[in-house]
Amino acid sequence: MTSKLTLKLTSIKKNYDNKVLPILIDKACKLDVVSKQRALVVPKAHGIVLEVGVGSGLNAKFYNKQKVKRVIGVDPHLQPLARERFDNEGIELISQPLSAETLPLEDNSVDSIVMTFTLCSIPNPMQALREMRRVLKPAGTLYYAEHGLAPQPKLIGKIQQLITPAWKTVSGGCHLDRDIEQLIAQAGFEVSGQQRFTQGVNIVGYYYWGEASVAASKLG
Ligand SMILES: C[S@@+](CC[C@H](N)C(=O)[O-])C[C@H]1O[C@@H](n2cnc3c(N)ncnc32)[C@H](O)[C@@H]1O
Repeated sequence: MTSKLTLKLTSIKKNYDNKVLPILIDKACKLDVVSKQRALVVPKAHGIVLEVGVGSGLNAKFYNKQKVKRVIGVDPHLQPLARERFDNEGIELISQPLSAETLPLEDNSVDSIVMTFTLCSIPNPMQALREMRRVLKPAGTLYYAEHGLAPQPKLIGKIQQLITPAWKTVSGGCHLDRDIEQLIAQAGFEVSGQQRFTQGVNIVGYYYWGEASVAASKLG
């Protein structure tokens, strides 16, 4: 009886993760408040671009086509819509259903990295950021727009930490309580970023955005 129930629940969760969640994520990531954050960083990408967590390709229309040579998109849950959206913009997308923790790219091989609303969901963010540092050219830039841990008021940060274990099980592994800027800096980047609540004070509304380059101490 118990194992039948476990099987049923596992199958419901699998259906939710594979069929329902991608639709919900695509809808949430299309909200105006999120698009405004994309518009602050994605148009700056240039040359050979690595997009980490390319998802359903919502960044496609924010790239500056004149500046981008091609986009290499990695995501373990790559959505078919990604190709459609990049094709519609006339931008070459080379996509791979892979995790950012092990990037199939040479050292110092990309000019820009774009990462939007993804670091919250990567199981091992430090490993992924170290990989990004490895593949980024010394003069390259990581452009990011993310949501994360709110330091002010302290109550929201505490709530984020408290509910993240439950939240991540229904949201594709999304952590509400990551200090994005601190993680990027700890992985060996120099960060020039901003952070604030964007739409009232709420658990998903504390945004971080900016750019980062490989720290001088990490340049070979
Ligand atoms: C909230 S969605 C954002 C998608 C897209 N970046 C955007 O801005 O619309 C988070 C994305 O991170 C991806 N992701 C999760 N773990 C990952 C990993 N280890 N490496 C790369 N992407 C990952 C998910 O599959 C999902 O597509």
